[in-house]
Amino acid sequence: MKVGQKIFRYDSLTSTNEVLKELAQDGFEPGIVVIGGIQTKGRGRLDRTWESPEGGLWLSVLMDATPVFHDNKFGVIPLMASCAVARSITALTELEARVKWPNDVMINGRKTCGILGEILDLEKGLAIIGIGINVNNSVREGYDFSPVSTSIHEEVGREVSLEELEHVLLDELDRRAVQITEGSSDDILEEWRSLSDTLGRNVRITTTTCEIVGIAKDIDENGSLIVDTDDREVTVLAGDCEHLE
Ligand code: BTN
Repeated sequence: MKVGQKIFRYDSLTSTNEVLKELAQDGFEPGIVVIGGIQTKGRGRLDRTWESPEGGLWLSVLMDATPVFHDNKFGVIPLMASCAVARSITALTELEARVKWPNDVMINGRKTCGILGEILDLEKGLAIIGIGINVNNSVREGYDFSPVSTSIHEEVGREVSLEELEHVLLDELDRRAVQITEGSSDDILEEWRSLSDTLGRNVRITTTTCEIVGIAKDIDENGSLIVDTDDREVTVLAGDCEHLE
């Protein structure tokens, strides 16, 4: 099913990821989308709270991730979502949106969008992509090393149509979901590299167990970040990333 062929809309809900999980358990197919006007329990990475007031685009997509599960490349899913968001923002506003590892979208160095990818059912090949974009809502200080968070409205200086953004984004997501189904995840990695704001920078990565400082050299086939430190090359699967300069 095409991404967004069936959309479930709520004025207010706990979290689009949670509602999508329930719908998947009820047997709805990959491609369905849940959109909420407000989330009362929006979740970010590492179990953080994600502020989700009116005016933002808060949505989740149920994905058929069978090919990436087989190849152990789940990390490609959130990367593809950040590329789709960056392209959609640029298409609507002409702002240069860039992607920051692991899966944020930035405008002028400020975080505009966060993505929460979750594995739902390995056997059935199901994954969830949760996407939160600050569009016309006001934002508070960034919590995860983004010097400041921002909204599209703040950066472009006018209101942006949520409907238009949703429409363009679902198309962009569908295009890349097809690429993943066809086994072309290398094209997604290449696109991410070309949109990257992280590669080539001096970064500090904080994981649950350690801190790594060095130059962000590349991503591997699973989307893990390869960091050149003074004495060795380290591959990081997950963590917070701070751009040091
Ligand atoms: C991050 O920490 O950067 C990821 C934020 C992801 C937020 C989105 S909003 C839609 C979906 N539902 C949630 O509860 N979280 C994700």
